[in-house]
Amino acid sequence: MFRLMPDLSDDLLLRLYHKGAHVNWTSDDIDWSAPLELSDRESEALARVLSPVYLGEQSAMLGASNVLPQLAMAGESTGQLYLSTFLLDEARHFEALTRLYRRLQHDPVSIRKLPAMLRYHHRLRQGDRVDWVFGILVSDLFAKQFYQLFSKTRQDALFGDMSQRILVDESRHQAFCDEYLSRAMPHLSPERRKALRDMRDELLKIMQDMQDALGVDAEVLGFSGDDMLGRVANDISVHARRIGLDGPDGDPGSGGDPAHGRPPVDLASRRARRDGERDGVQQVREDPCDGCTTCALAAICQSRIVRSATAR
Ligand SMILES: [Fe+2]
Ligand SMILES: [Fe+2]
Repeated sequence: MFRLMPDLSDDLLLRLYHKGAHVNWTSDDIDWSAPLELSDRESEALARVLSPVYLGEQSAMLGASNVLPQLAMAGESTGQLYLSTFLLDEARHFEALTRLYRRLQHDPVSIRKLPAMLRYHHRLRQGDRVDWVFGILVSDLFAKQFYQLFSKTRQDALFGDMSQRILVDESRHQAFCDEYLSRAMPHLSPERRKALRDMRDELLKIMQDMQDALGVDAEVLGFSGDDMLGRVANDISVHARRIGLDGPDGDPGSGGDPAHGRPPVDLASRRARRDGERDGVQQVREDPCDGCTTCALAAICQSRIVRSATAR
């Protein structure tokens, strides 16, 4: 594992490490006297919808410590250095959010009440370092959408300010994932690529399950969890193309499995089924694309415009 003189080429990962080492803050830099701008019910709702993100911060920190030796074994020295700043980033997010919970005076949802959180954490732990980085990309895109909501709508409130700080760190994480996975992708077999697509689908399904349990709290805070998840799915599609997992039209990248030329997961159909079940309706809404996963237009079907039109 040890190389006395490892190859520390001046690549993007090394530059991200430099950036991460310079841009530092802790919870002590946050103005805790800033107003929450939340009623007690809204504070409770934030404590609840924040729970998967809060667990995600801890999961990312633990996962990085597990993967770091794998990078060392593979001689990926600049990635190894970068990951040391990633660890610190996730540690400060975890610590800052813990202090936020104290301020909210409400606890996160327990894993017993929301077991999907544990399923998500376990899914991220499967596979090797490439699987882990891909899972982190998906998780970070989810976290990005979540923090962006608050940084835009509650800029002057405590959590809005905290979200802006965290987003700067998360943008480095996404840059790392894009670079690392773009390098790895040409070396992956079609089976490995298929496994990554399956993982993406699985994580999105678990996210939808979490959203189903927390949708009412999202509404209390004035946003639609379904819309947010739609944006996450869209972001994942964009990055899947960027890293070469999917081709330019959402089809599999070179060496992929044609059966997987599809959007990440058919969230709209899942939601229609869920809403039908909620209303006690046996039949789901009529949707000509329900169940379709292979149509060339499937990526478009997932666009917000089409989803909102077919949701009526
Ligand atoms: Fe984070
Ligand atoms: Fe992150």
